[in-house]
Amino acid sequence: MYTSYISGVGHYVPENIVTNDDLSKMMDTNDAWIQERTGIQERRHIKKGDGNSTSIMGTKASKIALERAGLVANDIDMIVFATLSPDMYFPGGGVEVQEQLKMRTIPAIDVRNQCSGFVYAMSVADQYIKTGMCKHVLVIGAENHSGGLDFTTRGRSVSVIFGDGAGAAIVSRNKDDKAGILSTHLHSEGKHKNELSLQGPSTEYWVPQIIEENPQEDIPYYPYMNGQFVFKHAIVRFAEVIKEGLDTNDLSISDIDMLIPHQANLRISQFIQKKMGLPDSKVFNNIQKYGNTTAASIPIALSEAWEEGKIKKDDLVVLAAFGSGFTWGSTIIRWK
Ligand code: ACO
Repeated sequence: MYTSYISGVGHYVPENIVTNDDLSKMMDTNDAWIQERTGIQERRHIKKGDGNSTSIMGTKASKIALERAGLVANDIDMIVFATLSPDMYFPGGGVEVQEQLKMRTIPAIDVRNQCSGFVYAMSVADQYIKTGMCKHVLVIGAENHSGGLDFTTRGRSVSVIFGDGAGAAIVSRNKDDKAGILSTHLHSEGKHKNELSLQGPSTEYWVPQIIEENPQEDIPYYPYMNGQFVFKHAIVRFAEVIKEGLDTNDLSISDIDMLIPHQANLRISQFIQKKMGLPDSKVFNNIQKYGNTTAASIPIALSEAWEEGKIKKDDLVVLAAFGSGFTWGSTIIRWK
């Protein structure tokens, strides 16, 4: 059995900065409300004509990760692409990256686990490395939320939270020691599927019916979130799945050098930090600048933390996510 490690990370966000004040010109909201409830100060939105899409941002992040790993596109044996906002309803983003990077006809898997997408995708990559099927797997989390949000007052409780961007990591076969990805832990609880969801178009509410009914008020193709319900579950599941990862490896909270939580909401991260008794220096947050970028949030944060020198060799790095499904998960890494 082989083991895996992260050999390179990269991220890309669109240049267009949208502040809370910018949003307050489109809907009835304000900077104080958004900052107090979410910690978000600004986010990035793709601008029509700036050449970006979910897959293109994913490709840009991937190029940086490849370079940092000292690899070229042809070294990659598989793509795992996590997103809830692919360029097209089908096919998914993985094949777009395969084409954009002119890769061999390698497998391209799309992961549909929303905010947990990146930790699910990392787990898939880790398993393929462990069995010896792959030497290098390109894992991407990318989202174009801004194209599909309701920027009227009706959608304000959701649309102020989300931003666009992409992050990527190369998961590679370990040559020497056991450092690297120590374990991955995934969970789901589908009974809460409706609490954070986008329900149309779907086979239950398919295009002909939407066109016929053309609903103006109850619009099923905008995301719905039961914010307080999500918040309550998130804080429990984050803590549980981090503990599960630590216990599996006979580690404790004091062994953590850097916790990178999915950037759901600064208040959620702060709650977990306090519950675990971690100092500010051991929890990475950048939601203030980017909002919640769903599957992209962990790889963007991981890449930024690495760039800022906050992740060093031998550090214990913990990734943790919770989101729509509900799904949640963690990745325990001894950084190489
Ligand atoms: N600006 C101003 N007022 C707003 C806004 C806004 N953008 N959005 C909602 N409000 C109003 C509501 O209409 C409501 O007004 P009312 O009292 O007159 O009815 C009031 O603010 C309170 O609304 P709540 O929804 O109860 O606000 P809450 O304090 O729960 O905060 C929030 C909402 C931020 C979404 C919170 O519930 C939360 O953080 N939930 C966690 C979910 C989360 O973080 N999701 C991120 C994505 S999911 C994931 O990644 C896991």
